[in-house]
Amino acid sequence: MPRYAYVNGRYVPHGDATVHIEDRGYQFADGVYEVITIVDGHLIDEAPHIDRLDRSLNELRIGWPVTRRALGFLMRTLVRRNRVRSGIIYIQVTRGVAPRDFRFPKGAAPSLVMTTRHMTFGSPKLMEEGVSVVTIPDIRWQRRDIKSIALLPQALGKQQAAEAGAFEAWMVDPDGTVTEGTSSNAWIVTGEGVLVTRPATNAILNGITRLRILRLAGAAGLRHEERPFTVAEACRAREAFISSATTFVTPVTRIDGQAIGNGVPGSLASALRADYLAFAAEAVPA
Ligand code: PDD
Repeated sequence: MPRYAYVNGRYVPHGDATVHIEDRGYQFADGVYEVITIVDGHLIDEAPHIDRLDRSLNELRIGWPVTRRALGFLMRTLVRRNRVRSGIIYIQVTRGVAPRDFRFPKGAAPSLVMTTRHMTFGSPKLMEEGVSVVTIPDIRWQRRDIKSIALLPQALGKQQAAEAGAFEAWMVDPDGTVTEGTSSNAWIVTGEGVLVTRPATNAILNGITRLRILRLAGAAGLRHEERPFTVAEACRAREAFISSATTFVTPVTRIDGQAIGNGVPGSLASALRADYLAFAAEAVPA
């Protein structure tokens, strides 16, 4: 069965899917994206993801390529056509095709591209062992709240992590505080058992998984704080973990080679992961 991509109004075999060489996404990274988890063929937290897409588009003054309602229909059609039960859908909107000029083109139609990918989540190995992170300077721009496709600092960071044998890199501001992972939000649990993550300012992307975890933590009566934390504090923490649409809650057991807590995944991270999986399972219509 061929795998399809959606490209500006057409479902095309994935291998044949192309965009114009003067698409502004290609030339200026002038676009935004979303990644939504698919569980049992159902899009998890679809509404907040599309709200964030709307926010990113507004911040950059890029128009909607289709109506919100149509986008919902197109996403579901692609997921169904590709028979994705477990995986992700990637949605990208750029300012469109125009002769190369830094100024916004007049009258260019925004481009919409979507792809899906089969993935299985929650590798037991990652849960049993946790993952390592390295820390690197955060060299990104000052609007990290926009889910822009300009991801070169993140690609460099993830590559650096991989070359160091780590799963993720945590980016650090000049004041020593951790902003977030290259493609995930960063969390710690203090010695007093308080869950800590950075507040959603322009310094980080406000993860949809992050927001969901904060709600689950609130519902479970867990003490939690949204405040910056330093690498030094993270190294002294009882637990650490990352969150994203592809990693859910994944425990971090080493930061720059140093063991966190007793070096194995913490009980709070495991409990939150179970809560997140239960939420996702409940979100799937029977
Ligand atoms: N990345 N921070 C950054 C910089 C991210 O790129 C992501 C997600 C997150 C977590 O956001 P969410 O919980 O909404 O997935 C935080 C996606 C998964 C990616 O680029 O593949």
